Amino acid sequence: MATESPATRRVQVAEHPRLLKLKEMFNSKFGSIPKFYVRAPGRVNIIGEHIDYCGYSVLPMAVEQDVLIAVEPVKTYALQLANTNPLYPDFSTSANNIQIDKTKPLWHNYFLCGLKGIQEHFGLSNLTGMNCLVDGNIPPSSGLSSSSALVCCAGLVTLTVLGRNLSKVELAEICAKSERYIGTEGGGMDQSISFLAEEGTAKLIEFSPLRATDVKLPSGAVFVIANSCVEMNKAATSHFNIRVMECRLAAKIPFLCGGLQTGCWNSGVCHLCILFGELLAKYKSLQWDKVLRLEEVQAKLGISLEEMLLVTEDALHPEPYNPEEICRCLGISLEELRTQILSPNTQDVLIFKLYQRAKHVYSEAARVLQFKKICEEAPENMVQLLGELMNQSHMSCRDMYECSCPELDQLVDICRKFGAQGSRLTGAGWGGCTVSIVPADKLPSFLANVHKAYYQRSDGSLAPEKQSLFATKPGGGALVFLEA
Ligand code: GLA
Repeated sequence: MATESPATRRVQVAEHPRLLKLKEMFNSKFGSIPKFYVRAPGRVNIIGEHIDYCGYSVLPMAVEQDVLIAVEPVKTYALQLANTNPLYPDFSTSANNIQIDKTKPLWHNYFLCGLKGIQEHFGLSNLTGMNCLVDGNIPPSSGLSSSSALVCCAGLVTLTVLGRNLSKVELAEICAKSERYIGTEGGGMDQSISFLAEEGTAKLIEFSPLRATDVKLPSGAVFVIANSCVEMNKAATSHFNIRVMECRLAAKIPFLCGGLQTGCWNSGVCHLCILFGELLAKYKSLQWDKVLRLEEVQAKLGISLEEMLLVTEDALHPEPYNPEEICRCLGISLEELRTQILSPNTQDVLIFKLYQRAKHVYSEAARVLQFKKICEEAPENMVQLLGELMNQSHMSCRDMYECSCPELDQLVDICRKFGAQGSRLTGAGWGGCTVSIVPADKLPSFLANVHKAYYQRSDGSLAPEKQSLFATKPGGGALVFLEA
């Protein structure tokens, strides 16, 4: 798996209505026939929210909705991009002068991220040009990863145009890194599942090194996605990066400011002392200022996630930290905090909730492992147990991580009321979709009732094109199609 490349499939385009339509539109746009097509799927994260960038494993599956691109390499350096959706205007540039504007998350910038990632990986300054027509059916800004699917698709398009080879793992790592050109400090979940997904199975995605393991979902239940219709583009606000920075700071602070560095502040009865005993001296000498991720803290201390939760309670305080206190703990100036730790769009943040964010991360990481274990052991009441974990995840996202919104909270309540054993926000949050686990025999009544309760509002305030409620199954990963 680690060395496997994305598959290339020969298809009769005439037998695939979406490919055929794309081929015809490509012809009328560029006056020629595409040489190949690439698809990369979106995803739904079943559990493990906002922990990939802290180094912890997540449990997503690919959805059938994807980004599909028809491609024709050209002999010039011109890159011409068009989209079947008239909301996304044409774009052209020179493929040897890629500029990505971080201030505006325009659609074509995601394509450029994928292209630039591959270009840089091979150290190429010149790239052959291409004509591309993009067609996506993942609802945008809905937490189903439409932007990463575009980045991944563009990365695989570029690789194919260059006639080079990379494994799925390498592609996922390159695309995760290059999507950060857009300005968000995402983890690698979305790109990893887009390349590593396999039909019929969800995946546990682990990082450093990146790997994906099959997780067999219960056969008696269905996963249902429901769009809250609140749009959230994580690149357009600083919410997402603030959380990444809070986690970064939470990884550094307890050990610089708390018991380990200064001796016990709790008369020798705190969890740090109880857990570590004489190891304390050793840990004092570690370079905590180099630590960036909460998982590294756990690895260095060599203790369980449950113990990390206890340590967090002692080492961090629930009151928010302000930049001055953080600088005092880290022994750095405000200027150093801004230039060396914070991202450009989090420079002026005045409040950092380190305790709450760390508690979410460690508890969510533990829930992912429990979820996988239940899927493996398949106890009789597994749907109920998995549902409980999903409910706890939502609660933690809402209360500790503060990445929900009233509409998402209302939607998960409605889903639970009409038969879901568990329901939670999925993706970055602050809007977008929920995912619910529903016993298979309750699916028809669940869909009908949720539709009525959430989407058929008397005030007609939900745009019909965004209303979506559908059952989903684990889909396959990114592919190249050639016309047979
Ligand atoms: C976005 C990011 C992912 C992940 C999720 C939250 O989708 O791209 O890396 O952090 O949010 O779980």
